[in-house]
Amino acid sequence: MGRRFGLRFQAMNLPQVSLQTFRRLTLLGVVLLGLIVVTGGVVRLTSSGLGCPTWPQCADGSLVPHGRYAVHGAVEFGNRLVSAAVGVLMLVLPLASLRLSPRRRDLTLLSLGLWVGFLGQAVLGGLTVLFKLNPGLVAGHFLLSMVLLLDVVVLDVRTARLLHPSMRPASPRWLAWLARFLALVAAVVLVLGTIATGSGPHSGDSSDVVRFGFNVRDVAQVHADAAMLLVGLVAAMAFAVRAQDVPGQARRESIWLVVTVVGQAGIGFAQYFLGVPVGLVGLHVAGATLLWIFSLRLMLALSAPRVVTVSLPGPAAQTGAPSPHREPASSPV
Ligand code: HEM
Repeated sequence: MGRRFGLRFQAMNLPQVSLQTFRRLTLLGVVLLGLIVVTGGVVRLTSSGLGCPTWPQCADGSLVPHGRYAVHGAVEFGNRLVSAAVGVLMLVLPLASLRLSPRRRDLTLLSLGLWVGFLGQAVLGGLTVLFKLNPGLVAGHFLLSMVLLLDVVVLDVRTARLLHPSMRPASPRWLAWLARFLALVAAVVLVLGTIATGSGPHSGDSSDVVRFGFNVRDVAQVHADAAMLLVGLVAAMAFAVRAQDVPGQARRESIWLVVTVVGQAGIGFAQYFLGVPVGLVGLHVAGATLLWIFSLRLMLALSAPRVVTVSLPGPAAQTGAPSPHREPASSPV
């Protein structure tokens, strides 16, 4: 209560934030939270964890990597830069949400969720190092990032809808449920992927790191089976969104999803048969992150309630700004 008051009090001294500016921040949040998964993965895969042996300086009293720290140091330093940018943004977003006019409770809660999640990631990251890259903690670190991405994608899509309220025709209910099921299967594939990693050579950067103890081939097989179910669902979805009256946004997300799932499955099989080379595993992590973002965006595009744009007397009408008005999903517009 006291902290909440304190945050509000601090926010009161800040300038008002327009919805457009807030949207730019949420979009930046999606990009940075996606990027940090990839840079964190590259640090793990290239054994660059101690590329910068000191903090906040990289090494030898220098802020930037050089000399014998050059390559691993550059990887670790790049990751530190992205982490710092994420840290600043996670603090700015809740404050900015409190300076929005009119203020929206859901946007504030989602922004605060990001901040809490970021603190959780900092603690989990510390524990992962403390417990010598325990695979459960490595997997938890990755999966918490996926939860943060869920939060920031919902925040971004909700903000975008406030800016463009008339972009929201309703979709058939069964299709919205299919999209939710698709996102659930994508989440299961991600979890199984982290178990495959935790059982294989890339869980940590040395052979001393303990593994989950499963047979990596068996886990990779189950992971690939679930991925094939996902490929089937994405294909079915691509046909369904073309056959039904759905928002153009949903069709666009579905195309991106087809591209990423096909690429991701290709990389998955290639890395499996080539003995998990580091470069392909890094691409697989990046592909998994993109695939998760597009699954969520598709789900949200298909779950949007029907909205019509009406002109109301008052300030909105005077400025010509559209005023959103929700209607039941079944009503003809
Ligand atoms: C198409 C959707 C797929 C998604 C979303 C996905 C996602 C993932 C994720 C998140 C990881 C863990 C990455 C990490 O923690 O470093 C992973 C690992 C892995 N995946 Fe996939 N995957 C997919 C398809 C496939 C397919 C079809 C195969 C084929 C066998 C495959 C093989 C593997 C293997 C072998 C690993 C362990 C790599 C390592 O040792 O680090 N994946 N996957």
